[in-house]
Amino acid sequence: MKRIAVLASGRGTNLEAILEAAERGEIAGEVALVVSDQKEAQALQRAERRGVKNLFMDPRDYGGREQYDQAIVEQLQEDRIDLVALAGFMRLLSPLFVSAFPMQIMNIHPSLLPAFPGLDGVEQAFHYGVKVTGCTVHFVDEGLDTGPIILQEAVPVIQEDTVETLHQRIHASEHRLYPTAIDLFCREKLKVEGRRCMIID
Ligand code: GAR
Repeated sequence: MKRIAVLASGRGTNLEAILEAAERGEIAGEVALVVSDQKEAQALQRAERRGVKNLFMDPRDYGGREQYDQAIVEQLQEDRIDLVALAGFMRLLSPLFVSAFPMQIMNIHPSLLPAFPGLDGVEQAFHYGVKVTGCTVHFVDEGLDTGPIILQEAVPVIQEDTVETLHQRIHASEHRLYPTAIDLFCREKLKVEGRRCMIID
């Protein structure tokens, strides 16, 4: 069984979807650790409720970004983590972190990358006026939302949408897509060739 760590800064609805899928046996791995950089993150409470090890690691306790990332890497290694899943973790990982887990870090982003990377992907797409947006699960490299794409799902924008209603539908789509991508990783079904990520039989 692969050991998964989820890093989250906020509400943690994607974490919840991952935990539920794992409990239903739809992920061939276990969530062994949840880490947050925010003390009050609901993600930590969700992990606690399900009896999953969870840690608040305060960036202010460390000298800088690299030292903070190094501390997380050490924690992940101590917990023998195979896959790091970023789920609304609102920090750009340093090269040190990325190189410690090459093609073993995933992120979910609320747009069809490479469109609308960075913060507020839903707002950016909405205000741009696109008719179709969606979500992307990708491997993390040193860039901002630039790593090889694993899965994407399209979500149409309807005329009556607000940013909030659109975000709700994208969230629902994320909650399907992320557990699926994680399960593919856990079953060793993903193969990366250059920028292309293949699903192997
Ligand atoms: C998700 O919509 C995720 O795509 C987004 O944060 C939200 C976290 O929601 N991530 C990013 O924008 C990363 N650039 P959650 O805390 O309810 O899972």
